Amino acid sequence: MSFVQISKRKDIVFGYQDGYSEVEILKNACSEAQFFRCSLLPGKSVKPELFSTVEHTQLFLFMEGNGYIVTPRKGFNIDDKFAVFVPDYDTEPFEIVCASDSKKPLEYIHIITELNEYDKHCLYASKMRLPRFRHIEDGWEYYESFKSENVASKMLLEHRNLGRVSCGAVLGTGPCTVGQHIHREILQWYIMLPGSRMTYTAGDESVLLEGGDISYTPTGYYHGSEVAPGDKLDYVWYEMVAEMYPGEIE
Ligand SMILES: [Fe+2]
Repeated sequence: MSFVQISKRKDIVFGYQDGYSEVEILKNACSEAQFFRCSLLPGKSVKPELFSTVEHTQLFLFMEGNGYIVTPRKGFNIDDKFAVFVPDYDTEPFEIVCASDSKKPLEYIHIITELNEYDKHCLYASKMRLPRFRHIEDGWEYYESFKSENVASKMLLEHRNLGRVSCGAVLGTGPCTVGQHIHREILQWYIMLPGSRMTYTAGDESVLLEGGDISYTPTGYYHGSEVAPGDKLDYVWYEMVAEMYPGEIE
């Protein structure tokens, strides 16, 4: 079996119940992270289950569609563009709503991860205020020497603040490349944003990834991407360190 696992968006069939559907994907990829593709029809809403800081971290990656998230204190507009939402564990309930005038279902990825002792320590020590909601333009830009000059990278969830999990975006228009590189100890998922298309190579395997596709690459493989002229690179990376990051958070 291939070590890069792919969930193709075009293979997903949503079966709605009361306007909501979820499909678990990449079930055999990583025992410490569950991924669900979710779809909510216009005018419908859901109230996801809450987990405490000793149970699970959960986050939501909004892919497309118009809608909003409501907490007892705030609202966040999704506006048919990528956004990441981290709820405040079991402190505040929240509701995800697909706007009644949305032209398409609100589509998002729901991720639920297991917590080790390092996660629990970081959640206590980072003192990060939640909930956190960020569009890509809210992220700060970073650079990596193995990427083409015309590639922009945005940090959305910084390393350590949420323990082992972090998230960012990589943006560009071809021709461009993300050169071969390796992360020790990191499990990595790529979530292709709508309209994107690139050739992803990890180890000796190459695959075509298109908008909505999600890849999983286990730790320990060189990987990189190539984008043809005129094609869009844009993807979000979500990653988990296997045990812990070096250095103290406090
Ligand atoms: Fe990477």
